Amino acid sequence: MKYMMDGGNLEEIKYCNEFFPLDGVTTNPTLLSKEKTDFLQRIRDIRDIIGPDKMIHVQTVQKKAEDIVEEAKFLKKEMGANFFIKIPICEEGLKATKILKSMNIDVTMTAIFTPPQALIAAMAGAKWVAPYVNRLDNIVGEGTRVVAEIVEQFKMYNLDCKVLAASFKSVEQVHKCALAGCDAITVSADIFKAIISHSMTDATIQGFDADWHGQYGDRTFLG
Ligand code: E4P
Repeated sequence: MKYMMDGGNLEEIKYCNEFFPLDGVTTNPTLLSKEKTDFLQRIRDIRDIIGPDKMIHVQTVQKKAEDIVEEAKFLKKEMGANFFIKIPICEEGLKATKILKSMNIDVTMTAIFTPPQALIAAMAGAKWVAPYVNRLDNIVGEGTRVVAEIVEQFKMYNLDCKVLAASFKSVEQVHKCALAGCDAITVSADIFKAIISHSMTDATIQGFDADWHGQYGDRTFLG
């Protein structure tokens, strides 16, 4: 399982990069708009924080295939290795994906809501597909089932395309995606925190501290 952070806030990205096993960052136009800042500089800053070896997925804001390709080429030059251009699924997006595949620029096909969308994205050459779990759960409660079916389908056809589950509002959704065998999840800093939080864990840690301090005060193994 790979863990990505979905966002554009530098403090949150620094926090996740420092404390969690972070494999990369994903953004989208909504997340970057919320930051109300120079968007190009922002993705450069994100790259600086996570370094060259982690993935960065940046979404195109173009509509026509040729323009998407130009934007992808520009962003690839900016971001270097481990860059993925996110393209929402649509005819122009699929056309751009086929062209970008021939140019060795990796595509993450996003705004995926059904297994047939994921399959056709993979066949067009996408490296990742990003199904939106919580947005599906909000209407029919089937987000994690859709992720499980996409995983199954890719296995069945032995496709070189991975599943990056996105749009999460709960740890339960994350857990069900993990059980379905999805390759990666992208979540907010809040969900990262929620994943490791448990009141029993807090109580257990407090118990260890109280017992140790009761016997040894402030001493540690270091002296
Ligand atoms: C994924 O590519 C999107 O950035 C994202 O996860 C959508 O999440 P939301 O439904 O919380 O906006």
